[in-house]
Amino acid sequence: MTERILIKNGRVMDPSANLDERLDILIEDGRVTEVSSDIKPQGDVETLDATGCIVTPGLIDCHVHLRESGRKGEAMETEKVKETIRSGTRAAAKGGFTTVLCEPNTTPPIDSWERVNELQERISSTSFVRTYVKVSMTVGMQGESVTDIEKLSVHPLVKALSEDGNPIVEEKLMYEVCRRAAKNNLPLSCHSEDSSFSLAKRSRKLGFRPREDFHNEPNFIARDILLAEASRAQIHISHVSMRESLEVIRRAKARNRTRVTCEVTPHHLLLDDSFRDPRGLRATVNPPLRSKEDNAALIEALKEGMIDVIASDHAPHREEDKRAGAPGFIGLETTLGLVLTKLVQPGIISLMHAIRMMSTTPSTIFHLKDGSLKKGARADVTIIDTGREWTVDTGGFESLSRNCPFEGWKLRGRSVAVIVGGRIIMRDGELIRCA
Ligand code: DOR
Ligand code: ZN
Repeated sequence: MTERILIKNGRVMDPSANLDERLDILIEDGRVTEVSSDIKPQGDVETLDATGCIVTPGLIDCHVHLRESGRKGEAMETEKVKETIRSGTRAAAKGGFTTVLCEPNTTPPIDSWERVNELQERISSTSFVRTYVKVSMTVGMQGESVTDIEKLSVHPLVKALSEDGNPIVEEKLMYEVCRRAAKNNLPLSCHSEDSSFSLAKRSRKLGFRPREDFHNEPNFIARDILLAEASRAQIHISHVSMRESLEVIRRAKARNRTRVTCEVTPHHLLLDDSFRDPRGLRATVNPPLRSKEDNAALIEALKEGMIDVIASDHAPHREEDKRAGAPGFIGLETTLGLVLTKLVQPGIISLMHAIRMMSTTPSTIFHLKDGSLKKGARADVTIIDTGREWTVDTGGFESLSRNCPFEGWKLRGRSVAVIVGGRIIMRDGELIRCA
C-alpha cells in the first residue's frame, strides 16, 4: 500500500532551496509531491501536525560506527555488544537522522564486495534509517594492499573510502588510493589523525618510536590533501580538532585544486582537555579533546563557513572498555540538541546554517542526492521541536552503549518525527518501524 503523508503548519527550512516559510508538504509514493501553503487533506492521507515545529530535509550523519560487520553468526545484542545496525540506527532515528554513513573499522573490516553485500542484508532487515557504508582503503585495514576500489565504487551502498583512525602512513600507497579513488569518483574520507596503530606498525620497521602526544593532525591533513590534489581526488577531512589543521584546510580550499571539505564533532567544539566525566568514565577520544584555544578556533571557523559538516563520530564502547581507555563517545542522540542549544540559540550560527551542515552539504559531499525538500525529492524529512526542553539521560538511550560525555546536560530542541523514503519511522518521539 502506498503511503500518503501530509505535514501541516510547519516552518519549512530547506537549505537546498533557501526556503524558510510556513508551508505544508505532501508526500506520495516516497517522494515530495507538493510544497505549498494550506494543502487540504484529501482521500486516504496521514496528517502530521507540525505546528510550532520546523520541518527540514532528513538529517545526515556522515560519521558513525555501528560496529556490525555483517558477518554471518556475529554475536547480536548481548551484554558484550557495543552496538548493532539495529540499535545504532534506532539511536539515529531518535536523534533526528534519516541517513547515516558507517565507518569500516568493524571486526573484520568492511573491505570487500562480499562484506558489503552481507552488511546490506543486515541493513535491509534491521535498519531504521538509510544506511550507507564507507569501505576501507586497504585490505583488512592493514595499510598494506589497496582494496578493489574499482569494483567497490559501483556498489550502491558504498559512498566513500576511509581507513578510519588508522591513516595510511606510506605515501606511495596513499597516492595509489587517491589515484584510484579519483578515477572511480569515490570521495576519500580521511581521519588524518595520529594513529598509534599505524605509526607503531611503521615505526617498528623504521626503528623509531611514535609520538604519543597526538599533535600530528595538521601534518597528516596536509599530506593527504597534497596527494588528493595531485590526483584530483575529492577529499573530506573527518573531525578536525586543531587550530593548525584549520589553517591547512583553509589554504587548500583557497587553492581550489580539488574538492576539499571538512567536518567537526560536537565534542571537539564544546569540550576541552580539562573535561572530566562526572561518572568517572575516561574522556579518551581520537583525536583527543584539545585546548580552549582550539575550541575557539573551531567555533570561529564554523561561523566563517569554513567547516562544511557537523558529524557525531558516534563511537560506542562498553563501560569496562571505556574505563580501560577505549577512545570515542556516542553522539547520535545528542548531536542535534547540542547544536541547537549550544550553537544556534546563543546566535553563533543560524538555524539554516546548522540544518545545511547536517543535511544538504553532507548529501552533496557523499553524492547522496538527498538533503532537499523540493518537489520530486526523496521524502526523507525531520521534524524538530526547537522549544522542547530535555535532559541528557543515557539510561533512556537506544544506543547499547552509554559513553556519552554530555550526561545530565540540559538541552532545548529535539526531533519529534522522522520520515524515511515516505514512511514514518518515528512519531511523537516513538520509534515505529524499520526503514
Ligand atoms: O574516538 C574514536 N573512536 N575515534 C576514531 O577514530 C575511532 C573511534 C572508534 O572506532 O571507536
Ligand atoms: Zn571515526
